Amino acid sequence: MHHHTRIGFKSNLGAIAALAGSAVGLGNIWKFPYVAGTNGGGAFLLVYIFFTLAIGFPVMLAEFSLGRRSQQNAFGTFRVLAPDSKWLLFGSLSIIAASLILSFYGTVSGWTLEYVWLSLTNAFQGQHAEEVTSVFNAFLSHPYKALLWQIGFMALTAAIIMGGVQKGIERYSKIMMPLLFVIIIALCINSMTLTGALEGLRFLFLPKFSELTANSILSALGQAFFSLSVGMGILLTYASYLPKTDNLTTTSLKVIVTDTLVAILAGMAILPAVFSFGIDPQSGPGLVFLTLPQVFQGLPGGTVWAVLFFLLLTFAALTSAISLLEVPVAYLVEEKKLKRPTATLLATLVITVIGSFNTLSFGPLKHVKIFGMNIFDACDYLCSNILLPLGGILICLFAGWYLNKALLYSELSNDHRLKIRFFKLYIFILRYIAPVCIFLILLNVLGLLG
Ligand code: PHE
Repeated sequence: MHHHTRIGFKSNLGAIAALAGSAVGLGNIWKFPYVAGTNGGGAFLLVYIFFTLAIGFPVMLAEFSLGRRSQQNAFGTFRVLAPDSKWLLFGSLSIIAASLILSFYGTVSGWTLEYVWLSLTNAFQGQHAEEVTSVFNAFLSHPYKALLWQIGFMALTAAIIMGGVQKGIERYSKIMMPLLFVIIIALCINSMTLTGALEGLRFLFLPKFSELTANSILSALGQAFFSLSVGMGILLTYASYLPKTDNLTTTSLKVIVTDTLVAILAGMAILPAVFSFGIDPQSGPGLVFLTLPQVFQGLPGGTVWAVLFFLLLTFAALTSAISLLEVPVAYLVEEKKLKRPTATLLATLVITVIGSFNTLSFGPLKHVKIFGMNIFDACDYLCSNILLPLGGILICLFAGWYLNKALLYSELSNDHRLKIRFFKLYIFILRYIAPVCIFLILLNVLGLLG
């Protein structure tokens, strides 16, 4: 292996902020509350936490071990650890998948920026449900407004990535993650003071096992996966910047606890407000953009809360987006020997061009359908429901079967300096439990389990 000095994260805290920043995103704040709500609330939460620990954790640990071992980007990892094998295809797939995810992640992030702007300018003042809905729809079908915000968001993402690992990713994650915590806790406290808050909390925390179907068990697994950013070389790339002295097990536990905590806090901030204002918690993906502007209006200081909320969403989206952009950028720099600024511009340009189809598929390209879905939904479906689970299985199989056990052990134990207690169990999970479980979600989302 060729050793060169590669710039990594400067501090442990910075590394945690970056990793947690990747995991905490739109998945936690926008998706988790309504997915939990429609799948049995408390019971879903328990199953979600179980899967996060039982399957998300081992997969994340495998990605961490691979990335830090190879000291390479997502493609280079397989070039180094599995030279001249079919695994290189998986490396290429990771680069493509991360880029595709960012192409639609940027769409929703762009909407978030528009909503920061609308909140700042008090645009929702005095509007009723129908008006709030028509504002959202008019925005989506506007020929280029959403596209401009997406380009703006991608430019912000590129600006941070251009700064590199320490002066870009680490620095901005260290600023945005604490802010995110402050904002979400403030929103939580505020929500607790609303009349009817208890009903929202009951909805989230009271297990109703009767509502737990096979389908919701599997969506808990899917949600855990997406939320943790595992499956497509994203955490693997970040882990390649971790110092060799870092304890991978405790680091991944910290990331997992933070991610789960933010999902629960988001549920606690949003659901009581939704109940208090008599909004249907099952409004689905539109919940944030359609109902929250209305919720905030009814609050004293509503404009401030609205701005804070959409800023929170922006920070969460941005720290996830940079982790996605870093995947192709690290690839272009290390494999194609491009300079970092050139690589960043090239990757951003390609992703934004692809992304513009996603964004415009709510407006001018509304009529283009792929398997009955618009371009955005098709892209989301392909990435979230097929590529991520597939990537998860492949990582388990690679780390569990292909990779030399001694090598995996030495990476987890920092060359035998740390004591690793459950290694046998870990290998068992990687080889059998995790791949089989993930395979079941995959079948389910493809509609093959009925
Ligand atoms: N984990 C991020 C979120 O919850 C989304 C994401 C998925 C980011 C996959 C990177 C890779 O929003």
